[in-house]
Amino acid sequence: MSGRVALVTGGGRGIGAAVARRLAREGVAVAVIDRDVRDAPGGLAIEADVSRPDEVSEAVDRAAGWGGGLHFAYNNAGVTGVRAGLADYPDDVFWRVQHVNVGGVLACMRAELRHMLAAGGGSIVNAASGAALAGVPFSGAYAASKHAIAGLTKTAAVEYAARGVRVNAVAPGLVRTDLVRGLDQETFVAAHPAGRAAEPEEVAEAVWWLLSAESFVTGVVLPVDGGLLARVPGLS
Ligand SMILES: NC(=O)c1ccc[n+]([C@@H]2O[C@H](COP(=O)([O-])OP(=O)(O)OC[C@H]3O[C@@H](n4cnc5c(N)ncnc54)[C@H](O)[C@@H]3O)[C@@H](O)[C@H]2O)c1
Repeated sequence: MSGRVALVTGGGRGIGAAVARRLAREGVAVAVIDRDVRDAPGGLAIEADVSRPDEVSEAVDRAAGWGGGLHFAYNNAGVTGVRAGLADYPDDVFWRVQHVNVGGVLACMRAELRHMLAAGGGSIVNAASGAALAGVPFSGAYAASKHAIAGLTKTAAVEYAARGVRVNAVAPGLVRTDLVRGLDQETFVAAHPAGRAAEPEEVAEAVWWLLSAESFVTGVVLPVDGGLLARVPGLS
């Protein structure tokens, strides 16, 4: 994998940092884009806000210039919003979540595709969630944004499959990171047949395979959730 270049957004901590470490372990040169790059692991760290398309475009060009191309991208930066029912959901928070999660993935893919299409191929993985495949009570903004990411992923996959770019997404269940510290862990863990939350490294393994394997897989939203979405409701 030496000579390959990857970009990871939100790679300053959590799942993104685990993916950056996984890629680096394989000899891939990794550029991390984050609004807070203090803890970015190795490689090139670029401070940028993914909800700002101008910053994203500049940051992606910088990463590709630094590495001499762009082969892999993991669009992972995301936020959750507040916990509230839809009848009471605050508009400003709703649209902020869409700007970061949906606008961010769109801006990133647009900039990444420019480089990948010019080079004849590449592989993109987006961070969806179990909330891309089912409703999550009191997380309407988050679920709407993740369903939109699934739609963008599938659309990009069919638009660019014939030009050598594969586009997939991962849909993790609960993963032990700062993002979910405020949740009622017990309730969420109990919904997972595996009986526990995932470690960031377990999601990184799936992202690594989707990014790098010379496979025919494109347009999938892959659950990485210890069986969460496979369970027949009510059966233990
Ligand atoms: N942790 C989970 O249980 C879980 C489950 C399913 C999906 N996900 C998704 O995985 C992704 C990563 O989650 P995590 O748990 O590692 O989160 P995290 O909060 O630990 O890390 C997110 C990173 O993204 C960065 N970031 C946030 N907004 C940004 C912006 N506007 N511009 C640039 N960087 C920004 C943060 O600075 C942080 O470094 C998110 O998209 C999240 O929705 C997480």
